[in-house]
Amino acid sequence: MAAPPVQAYKTLVKELQYHNHRYHVLDDPVISDGEYDRKLSLLQSWEHAFPDLIDDDSPTHRVGGRPLSEFSQISHSVPMLSLENAFDSDALMDFDRRIAERTETQENVNYVCEPKLDGVALSLLYRDGVLERAATRGDGMIGEDVTANAKTIRSVPLRLQGDSLPNLIEVRGEVYIPHEGFELLNAEADRLGDKKFVNPRNAAAGSLRQLDSRVTASRPLVMSVYGLGILESTVKPKTHFEMLTYLKQLGFLVNSHTYLAANIFQCESFYEQLAKQRSSLPYDIDGIVIKVNSLEIQQRMGAVLRSPRWAIARKFPAQEEMTRLVAVEYQVGRTGVITPVGRLEPVFVGGVTVRNATLHNQDEIARLDLFTDDTVIVRRAGDVIPKIVRVVKEYRRANASLIEFPQQCPVCGSEIEQVPDEAAVRCTGGMRCPAQVKQSINHFVSRRAINIEGLGDKLVEQLVDRDHVKSFSDLYRLDLVILCSLERMAEKSSKKLLKSIHASRDTSLSKFIYALGIREVGEGCAQILANRFQSLEALIAEPLEKLTEIEGVGPVVARHIVDYFAEPKNMNVIDELLSIGLNCHHKVDKENSSRPLAGQTWVLTGNLDSMSREGAKGILKSLGAKVSSSISAKTTKLLVGSKAGSKLEKAKLLRVPTMQEREFADLLVSHNVYPEHKTEI
Ligand code: IVH
Repeated sequence: MAAPPVQAYKTLVKELQYHNHRYHVLDDPVISDGEYDRKLSLLQSWEHAFPDLIDDDSPTHRVGGRPLSEFSQISHSVPMLSLENAFDSDALMDFDRRIAERTETQENVNYVCEPKLDGVALSLLYRDGVLERAATRGDGMIGEDVTANAKTIRSVPLRLQGDSLPNLIEVRGEVYIPHEGFELLNAEADRLGDKKFVNPRNAAAGSLRQLDSRVTASRPLVMSVYGLGILESTVKPKTHFEMLTYLKQLGFLVNSHTYLAANIFQCESFYEQLAKQRSSLPYDIDGIVIKVNSLEIQQRMGAVLRSPRWAIARKFPAQEEMTRLVAVEYQVGRTGVITPVGRLEPVFVGGVTVRNATLHNQDEIARLDLFTDDTVIVRRAGDVIPKIVRVVKEYRRANASLIEFPQQCPVCGSEIEQVPDEAAVRCTGGMRCPAQVKQSINHFVSRRAINIEGLGDKLVEQLVDRDHVKSFSDLYRLDLVILCSLERMAEKSSKKLLKSIHASRDTSLSKFIYALGIREVGEGCAQILANRFQSLEALIAEPLEKLTEIEGVGPVVARHIVDYFAEPKNMNVIDELLSIGLNCHHKVDKENSSRPLAGQTWVLTGNLDSMSREGAKGILKSLGAKVSSSISAKTTKLLVGSKAGSKLEKAKLLRVPTMQEREFADLLVSHNVYPEHKTEI
């Protein structure tokens, strides 16, 4: 191979740096991944043949180099400080008051609010625009040299951009792993039988401190910058906000939720706002950082011990806390699935008092290696169901015993069977199991099903326990005498309930199908079936093969539908309901155009945690959207679950907006749609 002209080499380095910045910092790529890879391999081949050419800022360093035997130490010429915390609004007001006192000002102080990213701090030193050294925070005074590792992080510029390059600049920021990357990383660890990471922060910290930078290169790290150590430049920002703008111009990633506040009250509102968005952000944050905007005031304020007086962290309530497991109880759901639930000593976590946490299934109990009385770490993020993430084995009591999953149904004593292809087990008791009867009735009467107002689960419990109700049709045989005999039921409330039972007879086909509680037939699917068949008889008569072909149904659900109607007991219940006068005529759906997602086309990729894909599709359709199986430029949105595949890549390429499951859940709630959750608690 003939040596390329030095200029051609440098141009290619620059070009790759440009595309890297477009992709990893601006999230706005120009060329395809394939094109990028081809350019990179050309550069690699040049460097391989002519090692003298290699520049310090060559993008080939991003793949990592030879492993080190240890990190060398680096002393920070400007200490890397930490932050004081404010856990409530009063502490924030005190902070503002202290600043006013010190600066002897009556006027409002301007602040910059930034998300407090939950990762690890990193310092980057650039001389004449080229990344020279990267160091961890260490104890704030002395850190470790992780230059080779930092170079593998795509959002870390190897060379700065623009015309006003500083002679010397030391930039500080947070290295973190977004949720999507974290899930992929753990899925991979699972596949290889490796230990999984506890949380994205630990994964980020571990990845940054790898002696082998090729390992770091394989981890989906991101760096977002928020401050300076040293600056020797002709550009002299006067405020923190100007400084962040300058950093952005130089090619760094600055978090998009950075906000300039005119006073401390606006900081508090920003905090409230971000707290609401927290669970739908694609990365972990544990609060906001509030910084005095004027660099001159920052200077005057100085620092106490290890934290500056001009900044404070307004923390969100912790999402993980420690508590004690009081008992494990087993809930039997509508379809017989047995869900273990941990009863906990009450603990304030994620902003609420938590008393119960899901344990999912027997595999989860085994994974946790749970013993009686164990001290456990409970996590509650956003609105998700609290879960036990791990056991603190150091605190295990000497006489504790292993928690064992029951071998029979804990309610009716029937045999337990494994649900095919799932970790769950199910009670085989069917309608002989009082728990299943109660749950089925609760579902049948719920608002989005038959909708019997005033019939809560406490009443259902009594009605089943006292043998007044064994199946749906029994509800329509209840009378005033029976209802008045129940606890906390006077004549007036009993009459009201009878009225709403009566009113519930006039329902729609889709609600009726949903109310039957056929396995995996959620609201969306019921709607699809009602639209398609327009009568119950037509649905019952449909053969399996035909049902399977319906978009939004699929083979598994189709099998459940056919099995349900093939069971004589179920047909008896339906006959009884119809003979009582239940009216389930198909009501023509509202005009498509009036539905909230009318005119939109959605595509799904990956696995959803909280609902089935079919369920999500059905719901999208019921909201008026079209659901397509492939991405095109016309796609409105890509709904991204875990283990997302090539569709996500394609969406990025075509710049189709994506939505994570958490945001999707919020969207559904905003349209009053509450999907059937996979987990019951
Ligand atoms: S400023 C002089 N800004 O939080 C102020 N820190 O608890 C030093 N962190 O060590 C830090 N996001 O690792 C600052 N927007 C942000 C931050 C942030 C996360 C971390 C950082 C720091 C720790 C202090």
